[in-house]
Amino acid sequence: MKFDTPATTNPIDQLKVVGQPVDRIDGPFKTTGTAPYAYERHDVAPDAAYGYVVGATVAKGRIASIDQSRAEAAPGVIAIVTARNAGKLGKGEKNIARLLAGPNVEHYHQAVALVVAETFEQARSAAKLLEVRYESTAGKYDLEQARSSGAKTIDKDKKVGDFNSAFARAEVQLDQTYSTPDQSHAMMEPHATTAMWRGERLTVWTSSQMVDWFASDLAKTLGIPKDRVHLISPYIGGGFGGKLFLRTDVLLAALGARIAQRPVKVTLQRPLIANNTTHRPATIQRVRLGASKSGEITAIAHESWSGNLPGGEPEEATQQTQFLYAGAHRLTGTRLAVLDLPEGNSMRAPGEAPGMMVLEIAIDEMAERLGMDPIEFRVRNDTQVDPSKPERRFSQRRLVECLRTGAKEFGWSERSAKPASRREGDAWIGIGMAAAFRNNLVMKSGARVLLDNRGIVTVQTDMTDIGTGSYTIIAQTAAEMLGVPLDRVVVELGDSSFPVSAGSGGQWGANSSTSGVYAACMKLREAIAQRAGFPADAEFAEGMVRAGGQSRTLAEIAGDKGFSVADSIEFGDLDKRYQQSTFGAHFVEVAVDAYTAEVRVRRMLSVCAAGRILNPKSARSQVIGAMTMGVGGALMEDLAVDKRKGFFVNHDLAAYEVPVHADIPHMQVIFLDETDPISSPMKAKGVGELGLCGVGAAVANAIYNATGVRVRDYPVTLDKLL
Ligand code: MOS
Repeated sequence: MKFDTPATTNPIDQLKVVGQPVDRIDGPFKTTGTAPYAYERHDVAPDAAYGYVVGATVAKGRIASIDQSRAEAAPGVIAIVTARNAGKLGKGEKNIARLLAGPNVEHYHQAVALVVAETFEQARSAAKLLEVRYESTAGKYDLEQARSSGAKTIDKDKKVGDFNSAFARAEVQLDQTYSTPDQSHAMMEPHATTAMWRGERLTVWTSSQMVDWFASDLAKTLGIPKDRVHLISPYIGGGFGGKLFLRTDVLLAALGARIAQRPVKVTLQRPLIANNTTHRPATIQRVRLGASKSGEITAIAHESWSGNLPGGEPEEATQQTQFLYAGAHRLTGTRLAVLDLPEGNSMRAPGEAPGMMVLEIAIDEMAERLGMDPIEFRVRNDTQVDPSKPERRFSQRRLVECLRTGAKEFGWSERSAKPASRREGDAWIGIGMAAAFRNNLVMKSGARVLLDNRGIVTVQTDMTDIGTGSYTIIAQTAAEMLGVPLDRVVVELGDSSFPVSAGSGGQWGANSSTSGVYAACMKLREAIAQRAGFPADAEFAEGMVRAGGQSRTLAEIAGDKGFSVADSIEFGDLDKRYQQSTFGAHFVEVAVDAYTAEVRVRRMLSVCAAGRILNPKSARSQVIGAMTMGVGGALMEDLAVDKRKGFFVNHDLAAYEVPVHADIPHMQVIFLDETDPISSPMKAKGVGELGLCGVGAAVANAIYNATGVRVRDYPVTLDKLL
């Protein structure tokens, strides 16, 4: 089904099942420990051996020699995989560095070997006996230095009007530089794979956000046809972008299983993950704002510097600045420096997450300089059109309503504009806010729908559920479309033998994958109506099809043949004709200890305008999870770079801090009642990343309001406040 004109009324609009706060279908499996994760598939591979990954201990250089004699002689060892016996390997399209080093080493903890043994403990102990010698060469690990030296930076400037002269003429100016650190996805379930060969055919049970990307890149790396790879990923214990791309565990489990000639399991041990896998790159961002005294932005510039390995991409931290506020003269530039740190890549809301952390502090600073309320300043500079292409409107844009709703609900009018003016006991109290913005992307997505003679509807798609609720909203969609109760729908996900879906990334998953299911269900409705001899506009309700006063059950029409139809949603150019984005507002209250500067977050509110909310319960879960991540980004998360050796020092969950329950206060989430007919037939958009974008700045702005200390380098730790 091609979606290239705005959606009109369709069966989803009944909202009998879609839009209801249905419990997660996979919830009981996950909370009772019965959802099988990739590393736990003892049922399919009871004889699996265990692989242990050895990571490089230099950041750049080459492997001079590997002496594996002692490791080979260790108890239980079955095989050792290195570049020497791995065969010729290609490189996945979506990998920047190779997944197995040798002879060259491209980054710290890049895999150099997999030790396969009868037990995990034997593999781990033998791995310590592997003697790898390196010749290391000098690398670049310091973003600040790379930025100021200007060496090998790539500029991608976007210009509207003449920023420089408009900024010079502006009555009020702001020119500030900020930084955000490298961050790690730190998902609960580590990357893990069980791999098994049957002749030339490879089956892998893994933890993947993007089944088709993994299968393609695995086949490409191994140099085998894609149809010989079967990839299965029904349950995923979190990803946050860290499982978008094929990683070491999958490749090395497959190689290990081939060489050991039996199934092999590999999980990345936690201390390997931060340097072996991808991370969100650190940024240095300069924002310049020019405004009239009455608060109209006349010039806006946002430049961001980040680093990556050769061939990598910059963090697109200026993305939102192209769209969020009006202003005739504009400049956004994303600069990339070559660094030899591990591979930088997508982490939840890549671009906007660190971009909004910065832009929304700058906006707060400018409002203060103008003597304006920060909400009024944002409202004053709202735009209903893409500021660089005024003929292009937003499909929906209710930023102002989000700001106003949040202000009222949070009690914004009680805030004192003067910092450090509210004291309770030993604590300075402050409130702050920020806008939320994240673009809405749409991706082609397919599904198959089957109907059997019991009237059971089964949906199959390679879509993944990374804890987001895909199983549930897909079941809701099929139930709505076919007029059956939710318990008559079975959803099967995460299998490369199913139709290719949008996958879970970029907050496009919910809207795109349910739209694919919508398309397949439309086709199934037509097939059912036709077999029953009913007109195409027959009504589907209560497990029956009705038309012209007649009705028949779905089970009866299905008969013994049943139905199996597949279709996909393909998006035309609506997203070029309209700017599709999601909007919101974040509000935060903090208490800062007057003596220790310890920050406690006391209250949080997010208001989101993100199209139709398919399931308010799972959507709220996404947003409160994102708000929690935003608190982590504001106050804790920070991969510390060893600038001499080129690696992330705090590479485990003890040293890489994220919020725990005790750090998180009461959270309130409000969804504006919205549908977006431009986005898809579901009229929904993404919300899981929107909930993160801006939270960090709202926390930082609240801390400023509490203390009068403006911190421009994240995370806002107490040493920066004293
Ligand atoms: Mo998201 S960073 O596309 O998983």
